[in-house]
Amino acid sequence: MIQKTYISHLRSKINETVELAGWAVRVRDSGKICFMQFRDGTGFIQVVASPNDVSTDDFETMRHLSIESAVKVKGTVVESPKSATGIEIIAKEIDLVSKTENYPITPKEHGTDFLMDLRHLWIRNPRQHAILRIRHQIITAIRHYFDDLDFTLTDAPIFTANECEGSSTLFGTEYFDENAFLSQSGQLYMEAACQAVGRAYCFGPTFRAEKSNTRRHLTEFWMVEPEVAYMDLEGSIELAEGLIQAIIKRVLERCEQELKVLNRSTEGLKAIIAGPFPKISYDEAVKIIQDSGTPFSWGDDFGGADETIISNAFERPTVVHSYPASIKPFYMKKDPKNPNVVRNMDILAPEGYGEIIGGGQREEHYETLLQSIEASGLDPKTYSWYLDIRRYGAVPHAGFGLGLERCVAWIAGLPHVRETGLFPRMPHRLRP
Ligand code: 4AD
Ligand code: MG
Repeated sequence: MIQKTYISHLRSKINETVELAGWAVRVRDSGKICFMQFRDGTGFIQVVASPNDVSTDDFETMRHLSIESAVKVKGTVVESPKSATGIEIIAKEIDLVSKTENYPITPKEHGTDFLMDLRHLWIRNPRQHAILRIRHQIITAIRHYFDDLDFTLTDAPIFTANECEGSSTLFGTEYFDENAFLSQSGQLYMEAACQAVGRAYCFGPTFRAEKSNTRRHLTEFWMVEPEVAYMDLEGSIELAEGLIQAIIKRVLERCEQELKVLNRSTEGLKAIIAGPFPKISYDEAVKIIQDSGTPFSWGDDFGGADETIISNAFERPTVVHSYPASIKPFYMKKDPKNPNVVRNMDILAPEGYGEIIGGGQREEHYETLLQSIEASGLDPKTYSWYLDIRRYGAVPHAGFGLGLERCVAWIAGLPHVRETGLFPRMPHRLRP
């Protein structure tokens, strides 16, 4: 059996009789009439039953429906200007599928830890539902953006022998009789792929053993990583700007209701589609931090608070480029005019959300890259395949990584990344 009618389709079915299958969110009984808040996974709607329209048995069934009981409803779709969706269902038949007793999440305030322990149930809540829908639309926007630009999706492996973003955040794992890591980034593989397909991207889970209990850090997160042959730093900035704008456009077009559920104001988001982003160098960003009265020395990496100061100076995502080479990974291309800095960029989201994109141009010269690998204390043998890319037809190339969950948190206006995916993984959160 395939269910044909969902709440999301009902706007076009006014005055029609429909059958819906879902769950009771809550039931309110006002003397003669019974109201049920009902959900079917695609949306939420009010179902109204009166003893004139439904059998006595069905009316009693509905009156006694407990929270999250599974139920089927047959009824007529009518306009209802007072309801949030503008429509409601006048019930004709109610059919109990399974009864729920003592649903642990009630309308009262629960602490976040309690809700995170019950994440498998919490995701049914309207707010969590809205976030999952927005996440889905962001993913779809990303896929369409790269597809429309003729990129080839070339997914990277998760088991890897190579570190990419520093040894301190590697998860190790046994791999038969050798040690492997869980991938921190698919970038190195995309660098190989872009010389095969021109414009490559991967989009999948990545892992960081970061014991950071912040609102921005997960141990497992999804990253989309485009990599393009014959592209430079400026090209990667343009590509990233376009991506962020495409994401916002799609969410504004498709998630009006979800953004409303989240009380997300959209004025700031709308302004972002309008034009290019402010671009400043690391040096200029340092000056902004120092001018704000916060101590900061050239050569330090930005912490979360520093990123907030920088991004608060602008109302739109801010591109910061040319960081000190000393705080960046081995693969970044040194600026030929000033080898102390690299041809990289980070994009900081506004409203204190911090870095959502990191990337830039890669070192394409064999000798320079080999020296960087050695200077970082890495074993050139492990990177021989990566060095081969510089041996056989080396070209300038660039790319970036966008962290999906940070992007969702920003666009949905969430206080923490833990609500951005189905079952988030954090230092103290492996279950459920
Ligand atoms: O800046 P990062 O570490 O860059 C890379 O991994 C590059 N190899 C990407 C590339 O050029 N292909 O990570 C990129 C993005 C960050 O800007 C952030 O959005 C996200 O990944 N990110 C995290 N998101 C959640 N939790 C964490 N622990 C994250 N670490 C990075
Ligand atoms: Mg970064």
